[in-house]
Amino acid sequence: MSSIISRRRHPAASYAAVAGGLVVAGVLYSAFSGGGASASSAASNQTQVAQGQALFVESCSSCHGLDAQGTTQAPSLIGAGSAAVDFQMSTGRMPAKELGAENDRKPSDFTPAQIADIAAYIESLGGGPAIPTTNQVSTSGANTGLGEELFSTNCSQCHGFAGAGGALTYGKSAPSLNASTPTQIYEAMLTGPEAMPVFGDGTITPAEKKDIIAYVTDTRAEANPGGFSLGRTGTTTEGLLGWLGGLGFLVLIAMWLTAKRRDHLKAESEQS
Ligand code: HEC
Ligand code: HEC
Repeated sequence: MSSIISRRRHPAASYAAVAGGLVVAGVLYSAFSGGGASASSAASNQTQVAQGQALFVESCSSCHGLDAQGTTQAPSLIGAGSAAVDFQMSTGRMPAKELGAENDRKPSDFTPAQIADIAAYIESLGGGPAIPTTNQVSTSGANTGLGEELFSTNCSQCHGFAGAGGALTYGKSAPSLNASTPTQIYEAMLTGPEAMPVFGDGTITPAEKKDIIAYVTDTRAEANPGGFSLGRTGTTTEGLLGWLGGLGFLVLIAMWLTAKRRDHLKAESEQS
């Protein structure tokens, strides 16, 4: 009994107690936030598809048909996949303003949530290539040197070296890749927009796609938009780390300050 009391008085014990409490709180936090998301995902997917269908009828069906079955003017989107919708809409190519116009990259009039809704609707009709996950487009551990080789074999004849863009023989041009996000680069390879071939996972493996993305995003002249990455840890871990790191740090600083003060007071009282 006396040994427990004396150990509890030890300054290290209070640090350990706080650290333990934070770990428990963090684990509870991540368990609850993670569990809630997966439980509601099936229901939210149905809402998404319904909302996506409504948006599609309004903005896309005049060219692609009421059920996305295609018309004489625009192709069927059944089986085009969520990746094609996300690529075309997030780069502002779709909805096309008029038939026959060059569909260049421009800011989108749609919110990411609206794009996700339409993507879910098109996916519900016939599957197709899916929007890549954060893990699939993460370039941590990617081989930039291999990416450069793959890019010069497969992409540079159209996009130029370092993805600067280039003229195609028949008068159209392949765009610069300066503004493309890792997700859009992955989606372009999966879906082959317009004159670009499809680079399925059999042609360029998922790991090689990461190498290419790392090369394209590393070599571009533009400044990095910023932000800081925790690699492949995902949002739950980030929340947990933020919780433990941020709160824990503040608490430890506070304890350290009060401990200093106590030492100081003790020293003073001993002097007098
Ligand atoms: C003015 C007519 C027009 C409208 C409106 C339009 N599209 Fe398109 N879309 C086209 C044409 C033409 C093509 C084929 C040529 C091309 O890829 O640029 C196409 C191609 C696509 C592709 C690529 C298909 C594939 O297999 O990769 C997708 C995806 C797409 N559209 C989605 C949409 C969505 C979603 C909307 C509504 C937000 C929309 N489009 C609105 C005319 C249109
Ligand atoms: C045969 C020529 C050709 C080849 C080879 C090619 N592309 Fe493309 N790529 C294009 C064209 C054309 C477009 C524009 C399509 C459009 O506007 O709908 C494009 C568009 C893109 C975009 C979208 C750019 C943006 O942000 O607007 C990306 C990203 C891309 N390509 C990446 C690649 C990568 C990576 C490779 C090699 C694995 C590759 N491309 C190989 C012709 C090509």
